Amino acid sequence: MIIMNEKIVSKSVEDTLEIGKIIAKNAFCGEVVTLSGDLGAGKTTLTKGVGKGLGIEEEINSPTFNILKCYFHDPLPLYHIDAYRLEGVRPEQKNIGLEEIIEGNGVTLIEWPMYIEEFIPFDSLSIEIHNDENENRTLLLSSNSPKYFTTIKELKEKFGC
Ligand SMILES: Nc1ncnc2c1ncn2[C@@H]1O[C@H](COP(=O)(O)OP(=O)(O)OP(=O)(O)O)[C@@H](O)[C@H]1O
Ligand SMILES: [Mg+2]
Repeated sequence: MIIMNEKIVSKSVEDTLEIGKIIAKNAFCGEVVTLSGDLGAGKTTLTKGVGKGLGIEEEINSPTFNILKCYFHDPLPLYHIDAYRLEGVRPEQKNIGLEEIIEGNGVTLIEWPMYIEEFIPFDSLSIEIHNDENENRTLLLSSNSPKYFTTIKELKEKFGC
């Protein structure tokens, strides 16, 4: 199995939005992107970029109080999951249909994936965002699925360091 790992840098909110747009440009039905990183790292900002890139006009906000928000749009709907509030919740109580969404017909972005690890496909695209100084963010991209290699390569070309 080939694993592709790349490190890219965002220097501003605009960069992070652009990174999201590149992900959207290459998006496909069934895509799953996990976004980990500290509070305020830019996970929701990146998701906003994906939404814009998919042509979704509705404002994308943090779904922290909802766990899941669906943005129905053709050809690809966006599903935005924020699992922050599922920390410490017992597995049987987490059975709220997230698995069906993740395996569904859209693009799913997942903030705080560690709290729903059991639902994350092994071949998703993982993005770990680190807060550096000021507005700088380092993003570690990783996937073992060739389905994401075009996206990773394009991001590396535009935002690689
Ligand atoms: N390069 C950058 N990329 C993204 N956001 C940045 C950047 N530089 C500064 N910011 C600021 O960091 C914050 C990121 O907020 P955002 O809601 O996207 O983070 P988050 O990772 O979703 O947080 P949470 O864990 O609370 O959900 C915003 O206030 C944004 O203006
Ligand atoms: Mg967020």
